[in-house]
Amino acid sequence: MERLTIIGAGNLGVSIAQGIIKAGLLKPDQVTLTRRSLDKLEPLRTSDFTVTTNNAEAVQQSSLVMICVQPKQALAVVKEIAPDLKEGKHVLISTVTGISTEEIASQLDGKQIPIVRAMPNTAIAIASSMTCICSHQATQQQVDAVIRLFNGLGKTLVVEERLMRASTVLAASGIAFFMRFLRASTQGGIQLGFDFEDAQAIAVQTAKGAALLLQEHGLHPEMEIDRVTTPEGCTIAGLNEMEHQGLSSAIIKGLVASFEKINNIRK
Ligand SMILES: NC(=O)c1ccc[n+]([C@@H]2O[C@H](COP(=O)([O-])OP(=O)(O)OC[C@H]3O[C@@H](n4cnc5c(N)ncnc54)[C@H](OP(=O)(O)O)[C@@H]3O)[C@@H](O)[C@H]2O)c1
Repeated sequence: MERLTIIGAGNLGVSIAQGIIKAGLLKPDQVTLTRRSLDKLEPLRTSDFTVTTNNAEAVQQSSLVMICVQPKQALAVVKEIAPDLKEGKHVLISTVTGISTEEIASQLDGKQIPIVRAMPNTAIAIASSMTCICSHQATQQQVDAVIRLFNGLGKTLVVEERLMRASTVLAASGIAFFMRFLRASTQGGIQLGFDFEDAQAIAVQTAKGAALLLQEHGLHPEMEIDRVTTPEGCTIAGLNEMEHQGLSSAIIKGLVASFEKINNIRK
């Protein structure tokens, strides 16, 4: 990959740029970041990123163009850069929620530009994203190049396009959902006697351990739970009380509510 342009260097765009540098995939001088309020990118200019408001020029200078704007801005931005996209040179990646590859392709003046839709999460800033991708008009080689990029920034899963909205809920919004669980665990720990720092450190490391157990052993979560729940013990008492209060049901209903919202997102 020679150069990457990120159009819409906001929360996610900057996280991706930072992750790419941290993972050593590119050097800052190979990355161009654009947004309309350039002053917000000034701190990044000092770290050798090219920052500009000129989307057209940024596209001309890169072969990989990543669109990271809000859904209601996305199609206008694609239309704006379409004249500068060249068949055989550019690969377009979109992280935009709820906009299909077909909708993106409809703004390209009939040009056959490979499009990869990617749904990462903000853990991409520390190369720990879960990124789901699907593609349109892209060769396997082009898709593999995008997979290599996102594999350097965490884990990547190729999914059918119909699952991209569900991927957004589970992986991108999922960061917020797990954060809320960690906050609640920390608050509980404080009530049980720990100060905030220790309670959070215990909650975070325990969550990491639970996730790694599933990743390493590949078992169903209930099998790992079974190893911790002694008959008449404290774990099963806590677990059952959480379920009486609707823990699993609240999480599933939250995911479904989020999915219903994404299906009605305004473009
Ligand atoms: N945040 C996440 O965890 C996450 C995860 C997965 C996917 N996504 C999706 O990724 C996209 C970006 O999310 P975000 O959270 O990073 O949003 P954000 O912080 O609002 O960033 C969007 C950026 O686009 C810039 N922008 C708007 N119009 C532009 C234009 N014409 N040319 C260049 N830049 C322009 C905005 O800056 P100016 O106003 O200064 O131009 C802003 O910095 C959204 O579609 C979101 O749904 C987000």
